[in-house]
Amino acid sequence: MDYKTLYQRSLESPAEFWAENAAELVWTKPWERVLNDTDAPFYEWFSGGEINTCYNALDRHCEAGRSGQAALIYDSPVTGQVRTYSYAELRDEVATFANVLQEFGVAHGDRVIIYMPMIPEAVISMLACARIGAIHSVVFGGFAPKELAARVVDASPKLAISASCGVEGSKVIPYLPLLDEALQIAGVEDLPRILVSRPQLPVEEMHPSAVLWDEAVAEAHPVDCVPVAATDPLYILYTSGTTGEPKGVVRPNGGHAVALNWSMRNIYNMQPGDVYWAASDIGWVVGHSYIVYAPLLFGCTTILYEGKPVGTPDAGAFWRVIEQHKVNCLFTAPTAFRAIRREDPSGKLLRKYDISSLQALYLAGERCDPDTLHWAEKQLEVPVIDHWWQTESGWPMAANPMGVEYLPVKAGSPTVAVPGYDIRVLDDEGVEVPRGQSGNIMVKLPLPPGNLPTLWGNQQRYYDTYLSRFEGYYLTGDAGVMDEQGYLWVMSRIDDVINVAGHRLSTGVLEEALASHADVAECAVIGVEDKLKGEMPLGFVVLNSGTQVDGEALKKSLIEVVRSQVGPIATPRDILVVPRLPKTRSGKILRGTMRMIADGKEYKLPATIEDPAVLDEIASALGLRG
Ligand code: COA
Ligand code: AMP
Repeated sequence: MDYKTLYQRSLESPAEFWAENAAELVWTKPWERVLNDTDAPFYEWFSGGEINTCYNALDRHCEAGRSGQAALIYDSPVTGQVRTYSYAELRDEVATFANVLQEFGVAHGDRVIIYMPMIPEAVISMLACARIGAIHSVVFGGFAPKELAARVVDASPKLAISASCGVEGSKVIPYLPLLDEALQIAGVEDLPRILVSRPQLPVEEMHPSAVLWDEAVAEAHPVDCVPVAATDPLYILYTSGTTGEPKGVVRPNGGHAVALNWSMRNIYNMQPGDVYWAASDIGWVVGHSYIVYAPLLFGCTTILYEGKPVGTPDAGAFWRVIEQHKVNCLFTAPTAFRAIRREDPSGKLLRKYDISSLQALYLAGERCDPDTLHWAEKQLEVPVIDHWWQTESGWPMAANPMGVEYLPVKAGSPTVAVPGYDIRVLDDEGVEVPRGQSGNIMVKLPLPPGNLPTLWGNQQRYYDTYLSRFEGYYLTGDAGVMDEQGYLWVMSRIDDVINVAGHRLSTGVLEEALASHADVAECAVIGVEDKLKGEMPLGFVVLNSGTQVDGEALKKSLIEVVRSQVGPIATPRDILVVPRLPKTRSGKILRGTMRMIADGKEYKLPATIEDPAVLDEIASALGLRG
């Protein structure tokens, strides 16, 4: 079936469309309703059905003859290790660790915080939670204790799983002081924890409520999967929004498994047994969906890579992994390719490796500039597919559906709406704009399976954030254009979310950190264009009157406050001291205009600006004028 026909079918008969695909999985109880719309605009997929995600990701394949096939290859250039787990081995490790969780009193519906580097135990922890119906919440290792604490408070976990350290390039980063501090901030300093002691930094002293992974596992025995409702949460993943408070995106078991399984064949053009590599981190949605769940649900081999695109040891690292493990599909962020290109512009290192197994490269997480796309196409000589999605969706919303039909590529566009997503571009009054004009990118409800049905513990916030803007539509938070051929062009965010090296950050959180500095009276953070990372935070501060400080020392301490409160991934490019911030007459900071000035773009003087002269002061602080 061609893309257009399939797409139409997915929108005209969503229940039939998804029920057919759901039949590829094993359900312990069939659903009563494929799409339950009785509580619209809140929808449920596969209501009444029961399933276990871990069973479908591991046991099902073992029973179907894939026991000996590699399920997970851990490739860690930073520690010099490669370890392969067959499907049977991974199932056994997961089943045994699930028993450890039970021994800690973790049961169906309980939350478990996972704060871990890219090691197999992280994947085993996630799948073990899924096995017993517990809800995991993985927090990216690059977040500081305060951010981790906010997630712990919201998720109220029964247990934390962590490791003694992360290895970032050549740096060993101790995790336990960060974890202990976070649990203290969250007011749960005695929360039980299981710790992996890594040889790079063996655990010597630990909190009285901690036990070591190896010791706990030595006492345990494998346990079976617990069937859960299709609508029960598999995990909570926190993401940045407009306000400082992280939002707990909830992922339901049933719809998620169906959608991810479908995407492997239809979007990524994979076959069971193929080798799939998402070079991301398990702390992000790409890692959840395409390092862990989708490849395993579909019976592929997945790669867990603990390294960087450059520096581990060089810009040939990705090509080495592709050759060594015969990778068929690579998925990463454009930033990774910009980093490789910067170090090896002519692709000299690439020629040292045989990457003939590679069928396609997929890029997402941030806008892919055409230059990077063309460079990757020229170097790899395979299709390079930009696709668009977000934490909330959990799988692509716009893509070139390679497994259905390879559509002509238009550089700068993530191609077309994925089956299941009725994407519309609306103006600020909620009226659909003609093709070719820009507006708010919305998805007409219902969202397809796998998308968030709510925010953890906060249905009202879910409604207010995503559904209240225009009745019957989901607000993606992105702005852009749908062209005459139905290609989508995602141009910018409509909120204060920025995207740094594919990492989604809220400028509100960075502003909160800066505002906590004793010398800061007022501040604003914007995302400015960056050649490597796509965007980088840039801070503007107004100091308390009478503050006498050495400019460089102040800048250092302001940058440090962001690194220690939000995390090193949010390190601002610079912090500029200004006499005042540009505001509207009602007191709203004009971040959009500041951004245009910083990026050297033409801008219209906002009609509501309180004093236009402030814009000259901003330009002058940026060294652009004055
Ligand atoms: N745990 C602890 N610290 C982390 C971390 C983690 N998991 N990930 C990053 N950091 C730290 C880094 O060590 C660095 O610290 P430093 O400022 O003290 O040196 C800081 O956070 C910034 O890291 P990063 O954003 O990775 O920048 P970089 O300059 O070290 O590396 C790239 C640049 C392009 C190589 C890197 O950003 C990259 O690999 N990007 C790929 C993006 C990606 O995979 N995105 C996922 C979404 S698909
Ligand atoms: P995250 O939730 O961290 O995955 O970030 C999602 C956001 O990243 C989206 O809402 C977009 O703003 C941006 N994004 C992701 N993929 C793309 C893409 N292919 N093109 C443009 N923007 C993207």
